[in-house]
Amino acid sequence: MKNKEILCTEFLKWALPQLGLRWEGYRKVKRQVCKRINARIASLRLGSFSCYKEYFSKNPDEWKILDGMMHISISRFFRDYKSWEMLSEKLLPELAAKAIDENRPLRCWSAGCASGEEPYSLAILYHQKLKHSFPSLNFQLIATDANTHLLQRAAEACYPAGNVKEVPAKWLQSSFKKINGEYCLHDNIKNTVTFLHQDIRNKIPEGQFDLVFCKNLVGMYFAKERAIEVFNLITLSIQPDGFLLTGNHEPVPVENISGMQIYNRGLNIYQIII
Ligand SMILES: C[S@@+](CC[C@H](N)C(=O)[O-])C[C@H]1O[C@@H](n2cnc3c(N)ncnc32)[C@H](O)[C@@H]1O
Repeated sequence: MKNKEILCTEFLKWALPQLGLRWEGYRKVKRQVCKRINARIASLRLGSFSCYKEYFSKNPDEWKILDGMMHISISRFFRDYKSWEMLSEKLLPELAAKAIDENRPLRCWSAGCASGEEPYSLAILYHQKLKHSFPSLNFQLIATDANTHLLQRAAEACYPAGNVKEVPAKWLQSSFKKINGEYCLHDNIKNTVTFLHQDIRNKIPEGQFDLVFCKNLVGMYFAKERAIEVFNLITLSIQPDGFLLTGNHEPVPVENISGMQIYNRGLNIYQIII
């Protein structure tokens, strides 16, 4: 008899393409999603993956529920630290100077922001560094996610020690207060980020951005055709000379995205050209 792990893998290989998602992205995190799927099968009292497969034909709304179970929430502050150094030392000061010169705000977007670790890292960088070098800068930061539960956690802005271990010690002290063993952000950092509930497949925030983070989402989990479609839309929302940052080990089909070029391959930074 096949074990539960093999059965779940077979189920994922059947279901993911129908959701426009790619199995390769889920290979390493399949335990997390299989646990949710097993719980769902149990709650429906279906007993097996094959019964669950059949369930979809009579209950097409189940696809939406399954899609929601595919959200991977792993994140941490200052993830991929070297790209944050590049942002802090070079890209953000250059973008800030340009925005001031053009008499407009510096606009940033974190797409698939999970519980806020990524946009709040940028908010910390702004408060601890950028705003002192550019006091006249109008800094705007939008963060979006399709998962309301994660957005609720982002609004609470309290994190276990493991999520903040890459925050530089002096910023950890000045940006967080410790409450019941968790690290909770000060209000000035929290208030820098506007969170929106959006599914990137059908909605993106309005306006043009200088800097977009789309890490560990589109390139990692979306099927290639859909990834190309969404990356093209994201590219249209980035100012000429602006940047897109993606995650490590996350394929970006640059050849299929018009107006995008590799800026730094090792750090997964792309630049938008006119
Ligand atoms: C692995 S986390 C990445 C978090 C952060 N960007 C990082 O790299 O640390 C992926 C996030 O994308 C969100 N997500 C998944 N599908 C989405 C979609 N279609 N639209 C918007 N967000 C989505 C998930 O809810 C999750 O919070």
